[in-house]
Amino acid sequence: MTASATAPAAAPAYDRADWASAFRNVGRELESVPLGAARGRIPSELSGCLYRNGPGRLERAGRWVHHPFDGDGMITALRFEGGRASLSNRFVRTAGWQAEEEAGRFLCRGVFGTQKPGGMLANAFDLRLKNIANTHVVRLGDQLLALWEAAEPHALDPDTLETRGISMLDGVLKPGEAFSAHPRFDPGHHGGPRMVTFGVKAGPTSTIRLMEFATADDPAAGVRAGQLLAERRDSFRGFAFLHDFAITPNWAVFLQNAIAFNPLPYVLGQKGAAQCLASRPGEAGQFWLIPRPGAAAASRHLRPLRVPAPPGFVFHHLNAFEDPSTGDLVVDSIYYADFPSIGPGTDFRAVDFESIPEGQLLRCRIDLERAQSDPSGAVRHDWLEQRCCEFAMVNPARQGLEPRYAWMAVAERERGNDPLQAIEKLDLTTGERRVWSAAPRGFVSEPVMVPRPDADPAAAGSSPEDDGWVLCVVWNGARCASDLVILNAADLSEQAVLELPLAIPHGLHGSWVPA
Ligand code: CO
Repeated sequence: MTASATAPAAAPAYDRADWASAFRNVGRELESVPLGAARGRIPSELSGCLYRNGPGRLERAGRWVHHPFDGDGMITALRFEGGRASLSNRFVRTAGWQAEEEAGRFLCRGVFGTQKPGGMLANAFDLRLKNIANTHVVRLGDQLLALWEAAEPHALDPDTLETRGISMLDGVLKPGEAFSAHPRFDPGHHGGPRMVTFGVKAGPTSTIRLMEFATADDPAAGVRAGQLLAERRDSFRGFAFLHDFAITPNWAVFLQNAIAFNPLPYVLGQKGAAQCLASRPGEAGQFWLIPRPGAAAASRHLRPLRVPAPPGFVFHHLNAFEDPSTGDLVVDSIYYADFPSIGPGTDFRAVDFESIPEGQLLRCRIDLERAQSDPSGAVRHDWLEQRCCEFAMVNPARQGLEPRYAWMAVAERERGNDPLQAIEKLDLTTGERRVWSAAPRGFVSEPVMVPRPDADPAAAGSSPEDDGWVLCVVWNGARCASDLVILNAADLSEQAVLELPLAIPHGLHGSWVPA
């Protein structure tokens, strides 16, 4: 290199073999195995359970899934009490998993391109999908729900992780109805706490069904946890790929990406359904702002507001809130320059990170007044974080409100697309950053922020927003197994590292359930 060349981005600080070593089958199911801290001490106030979901079976009879998102859901439960911890894990007993366990080979096609053996002829016109229950896991009432957005949830026993079966949520869902894998937990904007979620029926016209469930019993109001409290349906033209959404006290916020769906290669057995999604270059997506049932906005707006969004592609949002000083609706989202897809000929373990866009955190301010008169000029946007990031969250008590802090998984390098190896705490007011890193041999998953339980329940919510811990399952490339890392949420100092007796492939989402 010549001395005059501009400085290149620092070289990636990881070994691809370490990253790829996490793609494997989970070979065993453990029950309440006690865990010790290899370093540090487990905080004695940490009391509850971290549930994680993600693909646990990626290969059968020598055949690999085309994409890890096609792998069968496996739930890990990490329980904490009095400075002690234990681990259990179990596959979700979906019909597909059971049939394939018995057969010893793949029998179903996957949404992300996994084909059953036999080539195109065996796959053509076979549109049966395996509900793989692998995307998220949340507690609702007396059940744990393993979520996969294209179909109904599977209900599990929260203690034993035993699969009870597909759940229609007491008749709320119809057989086969889509149910998002990204519920939002409203901490109490309308009285008691709620789980707000949605299902999408996508086609030339798409319909969003918004649903709000109670998450706590309220005997005085005759409400029990898990009960549907409110719902609405809204239809609009165009194919909608909606993975996530955000809530405020008044609004459910959706971002409809500029994505086209051409089902022909899927029907013909050449591609998985998700591989038939293609971005429409030059076209922007749009926000759909749906007034939440019963909220003040619902009396002012009968129909959802449609607002053009900045160009790009979004899987996940950080949060949304209403800014009382300006009247703006603010939405923070992880933006990609384009839809990152893996073609039919590519091995996911050989993916070229440099060739696909990275996620970056973007703040959109939607002027609600202008959205009604001149929607094209209603959005202003600014980067909050340009370092490659994903899986961002705020303190659960700030869900739908203006947060001070965000925690997210980031790449080790400050620019460019790499695997996620570090945890960042971002001060959204000052821009100050703190980073804890697992590089060079560690690879992080979604960090989960757990607030410290209030010492005085009467003063709930009075403690600082960053008082608590961040829990993260980390793939340890040196051990070829997973670690659970506990950080102080305020300064990201390492509190404890638990070396798990389990190798958990790169996972998706999870949640904390306080004791
Ligand atoms: Co997701």
